[in-house]
Amino acid sequence: MARLVLALAASAVAWGASVASVEDVQRARTKKPRDAYRGADQASMSRTLNAHLLASDKTLPCERWTLEELQAFMALVAEQRSEDLQQIYRTTMDRRTLRAESLAAFRAQWQQLNRAVAKHPHLHQPQQEAHCREAVMWWVHHLAEEKRQELRGRNLTVPLLPEGSKKPCAQLNTDPEVAKETQQVCVGVNEANSCDWCHSTQADHDKRRPGTSPPDALKKFTGPDDGNPQKWNRTRRCDQDQMPRCQLCEGVGGMAFGDPNDDIIITPCEVVAKAEDVDPKTVAKPLYPKQFTIKRKDGKQGGYSDTLIGWKTDPFCFGFFPQNDSTKPMCYRSEDALVKYYDIEKEAERADYTIHNGGLFAAFPNITSSILHVQETMWIQNDLWGIKQCICSNPSGNHCTNPPCKAYVQHWDTFAGAQYLGREKIGAEWIQNHGVGKSAKMMELDHFILWAHHVWTDPQSRRLVRAWKPFNGLQLYDPEAWLDKVEDPSVFDSPPEMCKKGHRSVRINCDDDGHYHPKKSENTHILDALLKRALSNGPEGISEFASQLWEATVVV
Ligand SMILES: *[C@@H]1O[C@H](CO)[C@@H](O)[C@H](O)[C@H]1NC(C)=O
Ligand SMILES: *[C@@H]1O[C@H](CO)[C@@H](O)[C@H](O)[C@H]1NC(C)=O
Ligand SMILES: *[C@@H]1O[C@H](CO)[C@@H](O)[C@H](O)[C@H]1NC(C)=O
Ligand SMILES: *[C@@H]1O[C@H](CO)[C@@H](O)[C@H](O)[C@H]1NC(C)=O
Repeated sequence: MARLVLALAASAVAWGASVASVEDVQRARTKKPRDAYRGADQASMSRTLNAHLLASDKTLPCERWTLEELQAFMALVAEQRSEDLQQIYRTTMDRRTLRAESLAAFRAQWQQLNRAVAKHPHLHQPQQEAHCREAVMWWVHHLAEEKRQELRGRNLTVPLLPEGSKKPCAQLNTDPEVAKETQQVCVGVNEANSCDWCHSTQADHDKRRPGTSPPDALKKFTGPDDGNPQKWNRTRRCDQDQMPRCQLCEGVGGMAFGDPNDDIIITPCEVVAKAEDVDPKTVAKPLYPKQFTIKRKDGKQGGYSDTLIGWKTDPFCFGFFPQNDSTKPMCYRSEDALVKYYDIEKEAERADYTIHNGGLFAAFPNITSSILHVQETMWIQNDLWGIKQCICSNPSGNHCTNPPCKAYVQHWDTFAGAQYLGREKIGAEWIQNHGVGKSAKMMELDHFILWAHHVWTDPQSRRLVRAWKPFNGLQLYDPEAWLDKVEDPSVFDSPPEMCKKGHRSVRINCDDDGHYHPKKSENTHILDALLKRALSNGPEGISEFASQLWEATVVV
């Protein structure tokens, strides 16, 4: 059988060669399988689908295939597949979309997988089953019916779906090299670890679209997923999928200011009670209101404060975004917000910050920054000592399984499925005029964990107070600063004026109308001149210098 598949694969050439019929297209647009193709659970669904395959195709059970044979089968289907169908899946964010852009990309992934599986035989069966599922999906959903008929005529053998329950992929392994490779395979087999779990649209999440809710991390044993390249200890980083499992007062984090493990002021923490010893009625779930404003009643800064952590993309850390891992050098920026708004119905969030400059710019006047995220675009508006700057961006960081990638604000119920660890006496940084470390406000809070995220709620106010993710940041919400609505909806108006053509502003990656455009920027020479002057002359007279910069410039 392998020989037949390989011979067919060699005779086919084009990638995406077949033409879809009206019926094919209709089926691709249909999101729910027809009743005849459904089953109560994974196993009965597989049996139902296998019955259909047995009726029309020459088949072999999954366990009779080697990985290479399955890959050859998939390569053959890929070469004959219909690009029309892929387009429909892609534009409707359908789970059937092929994950890689080319057959070469798939082949490269398969080679890597085969090497890892060869070394770790316990991974063979989960990989074989994952391949069978994928191969059948491609056979059924990526070929035009006409092409399927043609291949049937050539006696092509099709794999059947495994009918047992899904095999657990990862197994406890203490050798770090083995664990790393196991994890590479397991991530591919179980799920692509994705920002979409929390940053897809709320509507998709509410419809329970696949991939829009976090899977169960407790079924995995090989975390942290990125291998914890910064070697942070268990106080700074403890992920839900790592072994041994995280305990109270682990993974609590603090105010971080650099990549080395010690570049952090860990918050104090004492265990009060384990989950089983806390009356569940007193525990508030870590949910955000669907609409809120966080602002101190006295109008001062700090109802909401955070440290933003993300990959370093410019030497001054002016613009950076949280990413899905900690594999690159990172920027750390602590800031207080005057106000933060959120409205999940509008898929919108905004925070207005004052930024205390660190490092090179510590002696400079504060800068203000407003970060607005509406639908899949983020606008960062900075006031740099009098120079207005707008950065238009796609905050997805291109992390997704099916490009083009989009990242929306977090679901209001992102943490609905978080694991409850118990109650701690822990320092809440910054709020109510407190500091960090020993000066933080000591509170009794309930600690939850979801993958690399840790969140705390207050049993008194029943509010979410603190959130920490070692490579994304620290967030603090003053329990007294909440208002469960946004009074003036215009705070979310977008694109912001400053990001459009015709204003005295430096626009980075914005088109004339203020929408994200990866290749368009204007007036960047103003920013260059400002930074040059700041670096050569220090803070002295920087605002006067800034105010003169526009005089010689024609505004575009
Ligand atoms: C396909 O298989 C059938 C029976 O197994 C055989 O009779 C037929 O000749 C084969 N056709 C081709 C094109 O190989
Ligand atoms: C982890 O490192 C931090 C930062 O240096 C330190 O404060 C903390 O005590 C360490 N935790 C453990 C368990 O050693
Ligand atoms: C910067 O902001 C902080 C907090 O808002 C304030 O205490 C400080 O005085 C400001 N510094 C300057 C130079 O404006
Ligand atoms: C982060 O996202 C990239 C791109 O989607 C992906 O290749 C990588 O595996 C992800 N990292 C983790 C730790 O999941």
